[in-house]
Parts: sequence; C-alpha cells; structure tokens
Amino acid sequence: MNILLLGSGGREHALAWKLAQSPSLTRLYAAPGNPGIGEEAELVALDVTDHAAVARFCKEHDIALVVVGPEAPLVAGLADDLRAEGIPVFGPSKAAAQLEGSKGFTKDLCDRAGIPTAGYVRTTSLDGALAALDRFAAPYVLKADGLAAGKGVVIAETHAEAEEALTDMFGGAFGEAGAEVVIEEFLTGEEASLFALTDGTAILPFGSAQDHKRVGEGDTGPNTGGMGAYSPAPVLTAELEAQAMREIIEPTVHTMAAEGMPYSGVLYAGLMLTSEGPKLIEYNCRFGDPECQVLMSRLESDLVRIMLACAEGRLAECDARFADETALTVVMAAKGYPGTPEKGGAIDLRDAEAGGAKVFHAGTAIKDGRLVANGGRVLNVTATGQNVTEAQAAAYAAVDRIDFASGFCRRDIGWREVAREATD
Ligand code: AMP
Ligand code: GLY
Repeated sequence: MNILLLGSGGREHALAWKLAQSPSLTRLYAAPGNPGIGEEAELVALDVTDHAAVARFCKEHDIALVVVGPEAPLVAGLADDLRAEGIPVFGPSKAAAQLEGSKGFTKDLCDRAGIPTAGYVRTTSLDGALAALDRFAAPYVLKADGLAAGKGVVIAETHAEAEEALTDMFGGAFGEAGAEVVIEEFLTGEEASLFALTDGTAILPFGSAQDHKRVGEGDTGPNTGGMGAYSPAPVLTAELEAQAMREIIEPTVHTMAAEGMPYSGVLYAGLMLTSEGPKLIEYNCRFGDPECQVLMSRLESDLVRIMLACAEGRLAECDARFADETALTVVMAAKGYPGTPEKGGAIDLRDAEAGGAKVFHAGTAIKDGRLVANGGRVLNVTATGQNVTEAQAAAYAAVDRIDFASGFCRRDIGWREVAREATD
C-alpha cells in the first residue's frame, strides 16, 4: 500500500524510518519532508493548507493512508476533508484536535469528565484576567488559549510580572491565540509524557518519555521545542501509568466520543506527577518532537498496520510491542536557537551511525550537494542502551563523531535518571 506522510521535522523522519520498515508498504511519499526523510520516501511538493490538492494527490497516487505529523493541519481540519473523500487518515478531526488547539476547551472537558488537572479560569478580557489573578497565588501560570508554537505559556513569579504578561497577551503578543487566556493553579512535581493511540473507542498505550525543554544544561535558560528526550520515563512507574490511563486518558476518550467528537490518532498527555497523583498539564494531538524519535527507536511492532487500524477504527485488533531498553535522543541545534538560528552551516555526519545510533534530520537541507543546517533544531542523534546511562553514552559518542561547527547541543540529556541510576 502507498502512504503519504505530512511534515518536515525529526518527528516525521522517525515516522518515515519506521513506516519504511513495514512489509506492507509499497511506496512512501512525504510532503514536504527533508533530506533525511528523502532517504526513506519520495519527497513531493504539496501545500498542506490546500486540502483539495492533498486529496487530489491521494487519489492520483492510490494513497491508502495519510499520516499527519504536526498539529497545525489537524487543527485546520485536514483530516476531516480527507475523510470526506474516503481517504483514511492517522490524526484527529478538527473538533477532536481542539484538545491541543484550545487550552480552555481541554480544561472544560477535564471539568466535565472529572479528570485531575490544575484549577483554572478562562477569560477573554484583560480586566477579567487581572481580577482572576486574585484567585491564585504566585507563581502564576498564564496560557494563550490557541496554538502558539509552544510559546504561549508564561510562568510569572510575581503579580507585577503576571500583569505585564497578561497585558502583552491581550495586546496581541501571540496573535489570535491570545484572544482568550487560561490562568491556572501552579502544580509541582516531575513532568512526564504519556502516549496512547485511540480510534475513538479502543485505547492502546503507546509508551512514555521525558524531555528537556530548556536550552541550557541543568534545565536552565529559555524554553525550546525540546533539546532531547528519553523513553521510557522511569518516573512514570507501571502503577502511575495505569492510574493516568484510568483517570485521564480513558475518560478523555470516552467523553469525546459521547459528545460526538470521537478522537482518532495519538493522544500525547503532558503529565505532572504530583503528590496527589498524575495531573494533566496539557494534551497534544500529535507525537512529541523529539519524543517520537525515542518511541520509534523502541517500537518493535509494524507501525503501518497499527496506524491503518487506528485510522479505520480497528485498533482493538492491535497490540504494540516496545523493546525493553532505553532510547535517548540528543538535539543538535544551530547556534542562536531558540532565538534566530544560524542557517547554512555545513554538516558532515561522517560515521555517526557506525555504533548503531540513528541520526534523524530535523532541520537540514542540501545546498550545492552538501548537507547544511536549515532550522533551529537540526539533528536528533538517537541511541539505545540497557538504561539511560548507557543510552546517553552511546548517543553522545555518535554526537562526537558529527562535524557541525555551527551547531551545539546540551551535554546532560537524561541527567535526572543518570543520577538516580548512579545511586541505585
Ligand atoms: P504547556 O505548553 O501547557 O505544556 O506548558 C509548558 C510548560 O509549562 C509545561 O511543560 C510545564 O513545565 C509548565 N506548566 C504548564 N502548566 C503548568 C501548571 N499548571 N503548573 C506548573 N507548571 C506548568
Ligand atoms: N517536545 C515537546 C513537544 O513536542 O510538544
């Protein structure tokens, strides 16, 4: 069968790599893709905002499944428009993608379904927001309601900082995404990510991960899309995972279905492991990036079979086997990231993969026949091991074999677990 994969980052390279391992795949197309994805798929130029053009491509190329990597096309309703043409899609409808597209929507759903999450207030005016601040204590958690490319959350240490941030949000700092703001109770604990596939009825747990969002070592400095990740997340014990499935994922899936918005695709729950148990911080309607890279490195099952079954409402037929080992990925970014990254820096991957590591391309391009940096996050150097310490050593050994003078990476991905493993 033929598959069309949409997206151009490290997440999509990992998906392409795994899809390409399936015996049932005939041809893999990717739009727009990147040079790494181009090793697994035929790259095609398609405007994903032109839903009719995507549908036309699918008909012309006998596409049996469309896999949507990023959230924006899902929130824009691409899956609905393809399904209306009879094309199976891995990814939720526009209504279901509100779980990522509107933080207020998700908070209200948690309220209706009794899902543990931080207390909150939704507001559409600066005056309302300022009044609501009095119901919370510092630090204040302020979130632009809509999609803001991971930048819509402000944790303000003081009332004055919160006032300033709210003024910016309602002043248009996040565009349309900030027309509504959610103010939340501050939760404390360790964060972990839990993934589950669902076709609206059946639910398939799909692994856990932890990422490092800050650009600097020791988890300091500005937020990024993620500087590295590992899977599984040992802090999410089997018991806590079962609790999160029972108290968070299952009521979400059942409530969405009962309310006429069945969720189909991957649900990525950002959890805070509090002293009262796991609480939902946020949902994403897609795989994490770079969390997907570590999940795919451990997945032993046939991804094509699972994604197609999910898209066709047959997920109950599937199970998902993950290798009983740790995968860890180190993001190599271009200097300047998460501000303005230096573009065009030469990359020589040399024998980075010689020791069994895998280098996923996140932001690369080919210029004059040479591989160059073409984005903030550029490479995701991924390796496996018996524990985080081993996987970390293998990933950094591969990093050290790469020649990328205008790039940088954190040297401490996985540090919390490495410290715990040292005392075990
Ligand atoms: P989000 O985009 O919703 O994942 O938020 C970005 C980051 O802000 C999360 O990964 C947390 O570190 C932090 N955060 C979000 N909501 C809360 C909360 N209610 N309490 C504490 N930290 C939070
Ligand atoms: N790595 C965080 C995310 O994909 O949202």
